[in-house]
Amino acid sequence: MTNKLSYFRPHIQDMQPYEPILPFDVLSSELGIPPERLIKLDANENPYGPLPEVKAALAISDALHIYPDPESRRIRKILAEHHQVRESSIVVGAGADELIDLIMRIVIEPGDRVINCPPTFGMYAFDSALNQAELITISRQADFSLDLPGIIQAVEENKPRLLFLANPNNPDGGMISNREFRQLVNLPLLLVMDEAYIHFSDRERSVLKEVESYNNLIVLRTFSKWAGLAGLRIGYGVFPEEFVPMLMRAKQPYNVSVAAEQAAVITMQNLAKAEKNIAKIIKHRGQLYEALTQVTWLRPYPSQANFILCQVEGISAFELKQRLRKQGILIRYFDKPGLSDHIRISIGTQEQIEKLINALKGIG
Ligand SMILES: Cc1ncc(COP(=O)(O)O)c(C=O)c1O
Repeated sequence: MTNKLSYFRPHIQDMQPYEPILPFDVLSSELGIPPERLIKLDANENPYGPLPEVKAALAISDALHIYPDPESRRIRKILAEHHQVRESSIVVGAGADELIDLIMRIVIEPGDRVINCPPTFGMYAFDSALNQAELITISRQADFSLDLPGIIQAVEENKPRLLFLANPNNPDGGMISNREFRQLVNLPLLLVMDEAYIHFSDRERSVLKEVESYNNLIVLRTFSKWAGLAGLRIGYGVFPEEFVPMLMRAKQPYNVSVAAEQAAVITMQNLAKAEKNIAKIIKHRGQLYEALTQVTWLRPYPSQANFILCQVEGISAFELKQRLRKQGILIRYFDKPGLSDHIRISIGTQEQIEKLINALKGIG
């Protein structure tokens, strides 16, 4: 007789299964539409991709058989100069995603509390579950602004260790005010400001430079969105310096690949070109927003990011997503509280936006 033994840690068994995203080629064959005709506006990627200089350099790289620098020194030096902060305050990761997990690994004991303010980026809740944190949910208001009194009360009652905030927030693209930031950073917890989309906003509102003034503030950035490197996986954080040796201890030694570091370095060396793509995305965001306001059954939210969230009226948001999908246009639908009648559209090229608008007109 076999004794049924579970090998798995209970908190992993309890986690919600990951919702897999279909790879491009699988999707293309499923829809019978060639990949080059698919319009991918569902993951806030950069429609222009990496700079040509990045592609050219990676194509002739002679270092891909060598392990990467565990300290990512080249890109950290460049980032330190760019932001006017010390290299010893920067840690680079395989995307901001890796840093979210690493922060929790070095800070959270099982049962410690983390505040999450949904609707927001799903990895804060995901990594909290993975790291056995107890999630304290303080939902945003109907307009997606923060419930600040709720957060302050939860801090008093639950003594959480961590609060993650995306600024601009995903999925609505809104930002917190300077006054809200001051209130939050003065709370007795570690505040992680995730600035994944800051390049598409009024950058003056970044709090990256504030890290040197607070020992409880971390700012995360990524090359996935503005620099078009999502597939290579590279992001970084600016930390109070005492965090850096701990993160370096906890991270996998070769977390950032040779190709990813090289791509980030070359992007930073060609910033003016990358800025042109950012400017185009911001311009298209304005055009798309205008066009969406003309669709009587959509309510777009003003956005400071590379996507626009819309409330859908009179037709199911899920069905809308499916109908666009059949035409090869991919947008994001969220089957979550407060969002089930919403869609999120990433900003594409001029041509992609025109095709989307035409498709919406055909539906409505
Ligand atoms: C708010 C936010 N932070 C971080 C990320 C992930 O960034 P990365 O690709 O660097 O892991 C995303 C991706 O969608 C995001 O929306």
